[in-house]
Amino acid sequence: MSIIKATGICKTYQRGREEVCALRGVDLTLEPGEFVSIVGPSGAGKTALMNILGCLDTPSCGTLTIDGVQVTGKGEAELVKIRREHIGFVFQQFFLIPTLTVGENIGLPLLFSGTPYDPAKIEILLEKVGLAHRADHLPGQLSGGEMQRVAIARALVNSPRILLADEPTGNLDSVTADGIYRLFEELHRQGITVIVVTHNRELAQRAGRVIAIRDGCVVAGS
Ligand SMILES: Nc1ncnc2c1ncn2[C@@H]1O[C@H](COP(=O)(O)OP(=O)(O)OP(=O)(O)O)[C@@H](O)[C@H]1O
Ligand SMILES: [Mg+2]
Repeated sequence: MSIIKATGICKTYQRGREEVCALRGVDLTLEPGEFVSIVGPSGAGKTALMNILGCLDTPSCGTLTIDGVQVTGKGEAELVKIRREHIGFVFQQFFLIPTLTVGENIGLPLLFSGTPYDPAKIEILLEKVGLAHRADHLPGQLSGGEMQRVAIARALVNSPRILLADEPTGNLDSVTADGIYRLFEELHRQGITVIVVTHNRELAQRAGRVIAIRDGCVVAGS
């Protein structure tokens, strides 16, 4: 069974009195454990698509199934549940809370899902992202690459099968970006379905499949 199946996805935004068509009928099927890149020019609709795949936003038309769960037509409370159980999301900005420790930042989603904070679990995640024994540091004591690793660990805390990353290396130098991609490759080896938006052609090629988007349509790799 496909882990993501999107059919005829459209997204229209209202900008004042003008309608902006960000997605115009996107069909996309991903098998469990795939590592996929999404590329395309600025404004092509990559973020619009990621937000819909990640259940952060709803499509104007079309249908979406995540991990066998029909998403289309669900209300916000149900979308929150689907997001929590199936999806981890990483952004270009790390969105760490500066006054919380690394461990507390990683554990924050547990708070929202009513799961007790588990220091052993946090330590395992920190090890996974290459930051063992940094649980008590504050984000301000970390480099950009380390902060993104913390954000990735936070995205993994509910053990999602899908990791979505929108321009995760956009703020990082090429050596640091390479390290983040090694981590994605490792997570992919562990069976997680990884989808990464990037402007970097070289990084994009490291995925098993490259999906190109232009003017709201998939033009290659679907
Ligand atoms: N909230 C919004 N309101 C109105 N228009 C929007 C909104 N979000 C996105 N758009 C428009 O939808 C189109 C697609 O935007 P999107 O952010 O998905 O592009 P992108 O491919 O992620 O670009 P970039 O590479 O610059 O991040 C653009 O024309 C954009 O201006
Ligand atoms: Mg974008």
